[in-house]
Amino acid sequence: MFLTDRISMLPATLLLLLNAALAAAQTRTTLPIDWVTPELTPNPPFFTIPTGSQLAISVALCSATTDTNVPRFFVTNSSSTASPSSGGSDDVFEITLSQGQGSWTGTFPSGGVLGVENAGQMPFQIGVSNDVPIHQILNTPPLLGDTTATQALLFSPPFSPQTPQDPIYPNYTLPEANLSVPTVPSNPTNYTLVVVPTANALTSMPQTACMLFAQNSSGTITNESLWLRDSSGWRTEWLLTGLTDKTNYTAYVVESSYKVTGPIYFLTKSSSFSCSLVSQLPYCPSISYAIPLPAPPPPQVAYNSANLPDSITAPLISSLTNFTTSLTTFACGRDFYSPLVTCADCQRAYRTWLCAVSFPQCADLNTAPAAAALLTSQAPNARATAFPSGDSYTQLLPCIETCTATDRACPNFLGFKCPLPQFNAAQSYGVGYIDSGADGVQGGGSTGAWSDTYGNVWCSSGQ
Ligand SMILES: *[C@@H]1O[C@H](CO)[C@@H](O)[C@H](O)[C@H]1NC(C)=O
Ligand SMILES: *[C@@H]1O[C@H](CO)[C@@H](O)[C@H](O)[C@H]1NC(C)=O
Ligand SMILES: *[C@@H]1O[C@H](CO)[C@@H](O)[C@H](O)[C@H]1NC(C)=O
Ligand SMILES: *[C@@H]1O[C@H](CO)[C@@H](O)[C@H](O)[C@H]1NC(C)=O
Ligand SMILES: *[C@@H]1O[C@H](CO)[C@@H](O)[C@H](O)[C@H]1NC(C)=O
Ligand SMILES: *[C@@H]1O[C@H](CO)[C@@H](O)[C@H](O)[C@H]1NC(C)=O
Ligand SMILES: *[C@@H]1O[C@H](CO)[C@@H](O)[C@H](O)[C@H]1NC(C)=O
Ligand SMILES: *[C@@H]1O[C@H](CO)[C@@H](O)[C@H](O)[C@H]1NC(C)=O
Repeated sequence: MFLTDRISMLPATLLLLLNAALAAAQTRTTLPIDWVTPELTPNPPFFTIPTGSQLAISVALCSATTDTNVPRFFVTNSSSTASPSSGGSDDVFEITLSQGQGSWTGTFPSGGVLGVENAGQMPFQIGVSNDVPIHQILNTPPLLGDTTATQALLFSPPFSPQTPQDPIYPNYTLPEANLSVPTVPSNPTNYTLVVVPTANALTSMPQTACMLFAQNSSGTITNESLWLRDSSGWRTEWLLTGLTDKTNYTAYVVESSYKVTGPIYFLTKSSSFSCSLVSQLPYCPSISYAIPLPAPPPPQVAYNSANLPDSITAPLISSLTNFTTSLTTFACGRDFYSPLVTCADCQRAYRTWLCAVSFPQCADLNTAPAAAALLTSQAPNARATAFPSGDSYTQLLPCIETCTATDRACPNFLGFKCPLPQFNAAQSYGVGYIDSGADGVQGGGSTGAWSDTYGNVWCSSGQ
């Protein structure tokens, strides 16, 4: 276990005492490896760095201000420089800050020194690691499932990617329609969610975990669990309740206490929005959005496989079972209908499509992007007959790519066909968002994606 885990659990008063003790001692503190200091405004502003073949020294500003007169950090790995500063000397390197954090990695054959200028300006943390820098901004953003007026489903970035184990001949057994829930990994990455109204303008502050943890995160986490949505890996899933309707929120996720991902943005629906969130369906693992059902019986606040009506799941599982039976009349794994795809790819694509069309995704006319693919026809919903008909809610149409992907992945004899963009496809699908409508050039559509990090969703991807 890292010392960093322990320091993050010290009560605030103890941190203050430690801070005061560091200042009072007037001697240089040695920074231990795999350790993060409490938030400091140190005096004297010098720290001893231990010997190490490769150390990453990272710093993070902890104050929620846009102050430009921030501390500067200088590190030396030379035994002859006692007080590294902006004055420079042998082997003195500035740790340049970007969005309130920065790091320097190098060799410390005889240890080193970290010097801070403007140290009294604002509190900061220092971390020393003999691996990757402890403080970092990560590139993979969190993921929004969907929102209602007062709730949001959010996911951490993925960890532990899972490569599907496809069956091989002579035992070509495809997965059951009703998939079982895979075993949760034993050492999951620790993620923490921070959500604030976008009006708080946190993006102009240092993008650091210590700054984020000082915020009052909006809403209440009603459920936090691990979920394997797709092969990109496991994610922490949060069901957040108690939000305010028609409000823009900014969400960050902190990994392992110090690494920041995000922000992403989302807008809650208007108060008249009456659909409910669903997620954690083993047979449709990527579905996590608002569907046209009234709120589940209290105390539950969202749907999952335990409380979703059987009238919805039974036909879906029956269709997928029947489809799999037809598919395996082909000599899967022994004969090949394509050099690129297999029966397992076909079943996966069909599952994604079936889930997308079986669970209508609700949209809110008041908050949906103007260009979204909404069901305009007042005809009853032909695909999802277990749900109320389309005129009591606004439906976001499935992206046509869920259909074309299935068409491409499955053998012709199954007769799976998609409507053509030139004809009536736009009545039942979102066309031209991800791929271009006319010639289907991949990624060539108007948005190139079904959603963005601002919470806009143009069509329902089944993902
Ligand atoms: C300090 O680090 C720099 C950059 O990595 C390196 O070139 C230099 O040799 C190091 N100095 C010592 C004394 O190891
Ligand atoms: C065939 O594969 C399935 C699923 O992978 C497995 O459950 C079953 O035990 C295998 N049967 C044989 C005879 O190996
Ligand atoms: C958090 O809420 C408390 C009580 O409402 C308030 O005093 C404090 O200033 C808030 N902190 C931040 C960072 O907004
Ligand atoms: C959270 O959701 C999971 C999976 O649906 C469930 O097993 C667990 O009981 C829920 N926890 C709470 C506190 O509701
Ligand atoms: C939410 O943010 C978007 C994009 O910045 C803006 O266009 C919209 O007016 C905001 N909506 C509300 C209700 O604040
Ligand atoms: C996860 O990180 C948070 C934030 O630093 C911390 O409070 C929590 O104790 C950590 N959880 C585990 C299981 O380590
Ligand atoms: C799917 O499998 C689970 C667990 O094996 C079971 O409890 C559930 O009833 C099944 N669902 C359907 C619709 O068959
Ligand atoms: C699946 O096949 C069975 C038997 O042929 C049939 O009774 C059932 O209606 C089919 N299910 C669906 C959803 O078409």
